[in-house]
Amino acid sequence: MSASDFEPTIVGFLCNWCPFTAVDLAGSLTRAKSPNFRLIRVVCSGTVDPKFVLQSFLEGADGVFIGGCWPGDCHYIHGNLKARRRVALLTEVLGQVGIEKERLWLRWIAASESARFVEMVEEMTRQLRVLGPCALARRPRGISP
Ligand code: FES
Repeated sequence: MSASDFEPTIVGFLCNWCPFTAVDLAGSLTRAKSPNFRLIRVVCSGTVDPKFVLQSFLEGADGVFIGGCWPGDCHYIHGNLKARRRVALLTEVLGQVGIEKERLWLRWIAASESARFVEMVEEMTRQLRVLGPCALARRPRGISP
């Protein structure tokens, strides 16, 4: 596979409330489920354990996307703020082992922002194509859908 053929795999943890609703709206679920994106529905972005993120990279993800409700809209009050603190720490830890910060995204997505969500996935995919495969993968490339 040449560098120009590289198609990144993104594992996306999306909160069930606002972000997942955004994906579900206007048929964008189909687009979000591009070959690049593996969607995992979670009850709140605050429930995404750092182990899940690390495991995703180890299992072959080139990027991990966490989608949460906007601050003030979390159904569990501060779950999204907890996610933000975790991602900040994880980004530091991943940086220590040479994993670029562009591989881990945390974004707030309102239920009405389906088009914005799709744009974010496309932008992350573009950035990961430039970065190339993630060096942390310990398995053969590709995660089964
Ligand atoms: Fe959506 Fe907490 S309920 S981020």
